[in-house]
Amino acid sequence: MVVQFPSGEEQPGLALGLYGYGADSGRQAAEVATLRLALDMGWRVFDTAEMYADGGSERVLGQALQQAFRAGLAREAVMVVSKVLPENAFEAGVVAACEQSLQRLQLDCIDLYLLHWPGPHPLAETVRGFEQLQRRGRIRHWGVSNVDLPQLRELATVPGGAACAANQVHYSLRARGVEFDLLPAQRVHQMPLLAYSPLDQGELADHPALADLAMRHRVTPAQVALAWVLRQPGVMALPKAGSALHLRHNWAARALAKALTAEDLAQLDAHFPPPRAKQPLSVR
Ligand SMILES: NC(=O)c1ccc[n+]([C@@H]2O[C@H](COP(=O)([O-])OP(=O)(O)OC[C@H]3O[C@@H](n4cnc5c(N)ncnc54)[C@H](OP(=O)(O)O)[C@@H]3O)[C@@H](O)[C@H]2O)c1
Repeated sequence: MVVQFPSGEEQPGLALGLYGYGADSGRQAAEVATLRLALDMGWRVFDTAEMYADGGSERVLGQALQQAFRAGLAREAVMVVSKVLPENAFEAGVVAACEQSLQRLQLDCIDLYLLHWPGPHPLAETVRGFEQLQRRGRIRHWGVSNVDLPQLRELATVPGGAACAANQVHYSLRARGVEFDLLPAQRVHQMPLLAYSPLDQGELADHPALADLAMRHRVTPAQVALAWVLRQPGVMALPKAGSALHLRHNWAARALAKALTAEDLAQLDAHFPPPRAKQPLSVR
């Protein structure tokens, strides 16, 4: 499972979400070790934000990456996604926020930098900040998050706005509204949809409607929920996992994504119907 960005760059369709990391300094060493394990297993894309644990998530990721780089991992092998808070999303604010994120991440460059959600500042100003960062080599690509189709269209009309490389939104079996219009539109423009909370913050892990399908494939309900997102073209799934077991299960969901049958998918559609009309964007 691979997703292609507008630049033609390909990245894995499975990324690790880091919300919740870095919140407790007593757990820092254990979290760095979990991230090292993830890197050893092959996880290569990491999603964080300046907001997560007030920068703590970026700090923990930075430590794990530094250790991995010292052990021989190439910087280019990893994709780091981070986000600027809406209140910082004016031209100079974006630049300053990014510099602070880079310091916490111990990196020279963020691969994909997103506006966390639209806020008080005009998109044109935010884009000017992103462009400045690109000129300075501090970010490779930029994108948005929690943006529905009308605002994505508006973004395409502001100077430089057409360079938006991704949109990160909530997408899961229980939040399929984006299939009606946003996901098809992003596919046309080859703009990946980064699916956050693909397990509905863990709630799908014990959803009764997934139990028998999981038993049939000898997997867990969470793996079924994740595999379903992973098999969608143009979608990168970002499950958060804080343990070795969940990392392994989620990694293995890639194989399940290929093994789901038409019958399985019809069963899932019956329990979690696709949208028949426009729905408000789900926000978590
Ligand atoms: N852009 C945005 O506004 C936005 C909003 C929300 C999230 N996000 C991003 O998306 C990522 C994922 O979303 P999320 O953290 O809200 O929720 P999620 O990934 O849907 O669910 C995470 C929860 O599921 C549990 N879990 C993970 N793998 C499991 C498995 N195999 N079996 C059973 N339980 C499992 C985790 O437990 P453990 O922690 O114990 O492993 C955690 O409690 C975030 O970390 C963040 O990077 C972005």
